[in-house]
Amino acid sequence: MSRWKTDRRIVYGVSGGIAAYKAPLVVRGWAKAKCDVETILTEAAETLVSPLALSTLTNRRVWRERDFLSVECGWEIPHITLADWAEVVVVAPCTANVLRLAAQGDSATLLGATLLATRAPVVLFPAMNVHMWEHATTQANVEKARTLGYEVVRPEEGFLACNTSGTGRMPDPPVIWEYVWKALYPADKRSSLAGKTVLVTAGPTREYLDPVRFISNPSSGRMGYAMARDAWRRGAENVILVTGPVEIPPPPCAEVVHVESAAQMMEECLKRSERADFIVKAAAVGDYRAAEPRDQKLKRAENGGANLWLELAENPDIVRELGSRKPQGQVIIGFAAETQDLEENARRKIAAKNLDFIVANDVSAEDAGFGVETNRVKIFSSAAGLAGELEGTKEEVAEGIWDRILGR
Ligand code: PMT
Repeated sequence: MSRWKTDRRIVYGVSGGIAAYKAPLVVRGWAKAKCDVETILTEAAETLVSPLALSTLTNRRVWRERDFLSVECGWEIPHITLADWAEVVVVAPCTANVLRLAAQGDSATLLGATLLATRAPVVLFPAMNVHMWEHATTQANVEKARTLGYEVVRPEEGFLACNTSGTGRMPDPPVIWEYVWKALYPADKRSSLAGKTVLVTAGPTREYLDPVRFISNPSSGRMGYAMARDAWRRGAENVILVTGPVEIPPPPCAEVVHVESAAQMMEECLKRSERADFIVKAAAVGDYRAAEPRDQKLKRAENGGANLWLELAENPDIVRELGSRKPQGQVIIGFAAETQDLEENARRKIAAKNLDFIVANDVSAEDAGFGVETNRVKIFSSAAGLAGELEGTKEEVAEGIWDRILGR
């Protein structure tokens, strides 16, 4: 867990959309990260989610509409206390009505007044029926809220509670957490990639021998996905993630391109590399593929019990190709998976592939490299040699790598 994520102060508004039933799951993620959460329920939300469940999970009282301008809480002025206390205010689900309150600065309710009074970043997750979402009034309120500086996250497409399909679903809790972490990311780094396009490769490649068998490696995609996620948090305008098959969710807002083989990865990278300001090659690309992959499943009986000899052909080196056509000003960051002579091999690869940086991990260590949640790396720059040593979760390591690349 990155240190900046813990002990943060979150005001969580829940309004009366059916997705309010997910609110206890949303607060659990913040509780796990040891954040303090003050919850405000609108009157309509109270009919959909239990205040007791939320106060138990947050270890705090839940603020209800009846607390607004009430004699009992009067001297506390809850909307001002909450607005000043918050480091971020989140509303999920945000109904069309609460979106309107935010856009118009309507302070007639506890949630509306808190939104108006806070100086903290505000993230709204509209969720509603597709026709309500598409209505010109709602879209005008979205525009207005955005011009006021609110982050309004477009609802997802899918099957809606009103038995229709379309845009209007509240994202699942992990996506909500991601936007909140982005809002809480250290302020001095939040714009460090503003306006930039970042192309990241991640995960393994698969080289098929026949339709059902392939050569691959145990890359989970975590390191590359963490690099992409951190670039997004730093305000990169475009994050393009070219990924081999993995089982983890991509960061929100990345353009995700799924590939399997090294040849496909090469093709997709070359299509997009020219417009990239930064290229991060964290994928574990197979160096070899079957020289003649079979169209039909290879049958054991065909071989009559003898050893099977596989002829392998060399794959193109994607990062070397990208390095050879690097436009002026582009920065290429390679990764090196080493089991011996880490430093020597990393220095050799940085020169041979025309890289600006290489991140070398000792993949023979139990807590580093493939599959695990953590990593231990040395970063070398083509200009100045060793640029840093980092260890921690892949998320922390990714943040440290970007710090070094951006000269912090
Ligand atoms: O995905 P995880 O489970 O989180 O694991 C992370 C990781 C160990 C996969 C990652 O940290 C890592 O080290 N990735 C690079 C793995 C690798 O292929 O290293 P290499 O030393 O073989 O290659 C050096 C560089 O050349 C890499 O940037 C690689 O992407 C690139 N390459 C390699 C071969 C090839 N045919 N084309 C390439 O572009």
